[in-house]
Formats: sequence, C-alpha cells, structure tokens
Amino acid sequence: MSQALHPMLNTAVKAARTAGALINRASLDIERVTVTAKSHNDFVTEVDQAAEAAIIETLLGAYPGHGILAEETGRTHGAKDSDYLWIIDPLDGTTNFIHGFPVYAVSIALAFRGQIQQAVVYDPSRNDLFYASKGRGAFLNDKRLRVSKRSRLLESLIGTGFPFRKGDNFKRYLKMFEEVMQHCAGLRRPGAAALDLCYVAAGWYDGFFETGLNPWDIAAGSLMITEAGGLIGNFTGESDYLYQREIVAGNPKIYAQLVSILAPYTRIIKDDEASATAPAGSAAVPDATAAFVASAAADAPAAAAPKKSPVRIRKADLAKAKDDDAPF
Ligand code: IPD
Ligand code: CA
Ligand code: CA
Repeated sequence: MSQALHPMLNTAVKAARTAGALINRASLDIERVTVTAKSHNDFVTEVDQAAEAAIIETLLGAYPGHGILAEETGRTHGAKDSDYLWIIDPLDGTTNFIHGFPVYAVSIALAFRGQIQQAVVYDPSRNDLFYASKGRGAFLNDKRLRVSKRSRLLESLIGTGFPFRKGDNFKRYLKMFEEVMQHCAGLRRPGAAALDLCYVAAGWYDGFFETGLNPWDIAAGSLMITEAGGLIGNFTGESDYLYQREIVAGNPKIYAQLVSILAPYTRIIKDDEASATAPAGSAAVPDATAAFVASAAADAPAAAAPKKSPVRIRKADLAKAKDDDAPF
C-alpha cells in the first residue's frame, strides 16, 4: 500500500484479512462446511459465523466504544449509542462460496453519524483488497480507482443481482432486466454485491442495479464508488439509499441513463405522494426502523398473509433513519 491509511481503516483491513484467511482455509475443504438455510435460498455457514466473530473481535479490540451492525448477529455486539457504527458482511456471496465459485468477499464499512467514512472489501480468493477513506480516494491494492469514462449505455457493461428469495417480486425485476438488457452491451450477475460495487469503482462495469440488498451488502462498496468518481443512489437518483432496498450505481453519465430507465420501478414514496395515497385512518409508520422492518417482513415468505400487496416504503420515514437505531 503506497499511502498511510487512516488508523480505523487499518483496523478494518486487519479484520478483513483475518476473516479472508479463515475463508480461504475453509475453501480448501468445502465439503466439510456445514450449511444452514436462513430461509429459502438464503444460506449461512459456520464460516460466515466464524468470520463475523473474528471481525468483531478485531474491531472492538481496537475500538470498544463503537457500535456494530453485522449480518449474522445484528446489533448484539458493541455499543448501542455510539456515533460510530461498523457495518459488516463477513462473507458476501455465500452461495458462490458453498459451490466453490470463487466470487465472494468480506465487506466492512465504518459510518460516523450515518455517513460512511471508511470501507474495505477483501476478495480472499484473488487476494484483492479494495479500500477507501472519505475524501482520500478508492484503491485496489496499490492502484487508485476511477470509474469508467463510457458515456453511452448502449456500449456499457452493467452488473446486476437477481432476486432469489421466496416472495421476491420476480416479475417486477424481469421487466427492469428486459429494459436494461435491451439498452446496454451486456449484463452480468456474478453473485456478490459488495464486489459488484467495487467493479463499478474500478471501471470494469459502467453501472450496476439491484433490489433487495441490505446495508451490509452495500455500505463499503458505496464509498468505493463515490471516491472513484461515480454516483450511487436509489432508483430515482436520490442518495439516501442505504436502507431502501433498491440501488443503482455507475459513472455519472451511465448512472443518469440507468435512473431514467429504473425510476418508474421505484418503491420509495415521496412525502406528497404518501399523503395522497395513504388510506383514510391508516397510521403513519413511526420511524425508519419500523419502515425498514415492515418492508423486510413483506419481502419474506408470507406464511400468515397469503396475499402480498406491493411493498412501498415512505421516503419520509426512511429519511429519519439513523444507523445507530437500525433494526437488526
Ligand atoms: C448476497 C450477495 C448477492 C445478492 C444478495 C445478497 P450474501 O449476499 O450480495 O450478490 O444478490 O442479495 O444477499 O447473502 O451472500 O451475503
Ligand atoms: Ca451480502
Ligand atoms: Ca453474507
């Protein structure tokens, strides 16, 4: 690494490399890894759990007063009232990992008062370290990253992620897929969102879109993109996307073209629209946490509620989101 890293980024790199070593060791004998289904098509292994424990131990060892939001253990570790929140995906691309398909990564971001300040995405099978500090650029190993310069969507390579959980809105996704596919040069779905975002930062993709992602999938990658000169937002091009479960990214020109295709598919309701469409007597969702939980629950298999109405999220509620009161 050619530059001195921010101490908090240094700690994140150490944590990511520790987790990566653990993942690499396990990948040598993948048959022995125990796999559990969290829900249909959504898997967790003992490797995810061990990697997460190692990351948390390293981070809290250095910063015991910080908060933690991690995919497998939620908010059970760390302080609950800190301005600092580490957002962790210990193994992004678990399905790939289970199959020995070498596209997966460790993703760690640090938010300060809701703004991502430090980010690491470590691809252990290639020993590729993506990292960024706010205002100081994004890097892959020693190389500074810049988004691509391509300006026409028709010539662009776009990354995406498919919905895969039971109850996901496959039809809605297929419509977006069809539209984007017809307007670009190629679409790719490798299967690890944190890396997908780094590929935009590196200029390998010109753009990316996906629905249903959680904060730990995107927190680190989002800083790589903005520090590499790219843009990231929700389907209508707004920047408060972390808890919104719809994301579009790209170099500035391709981002704008993707937003114009994807905006009609947004699920985020703006203030004026919300008051116009709210059924009489319906209680407002009290806060961002509740809005996110409601949306996540509606995306999950509906055992008790056989008929699922389209999920829409009030922007006003999400705007109140604070990383330190996230629901998981
Ligand atoms: C998954 C990957 C995948 C995306 C899924 C995520 P996981 O993360 O990022 O690319 O399409 O939505 O859940 O579960 O392997 O950490
Ligand atoms: Ca993930
Ligand atoms: Ca994961």
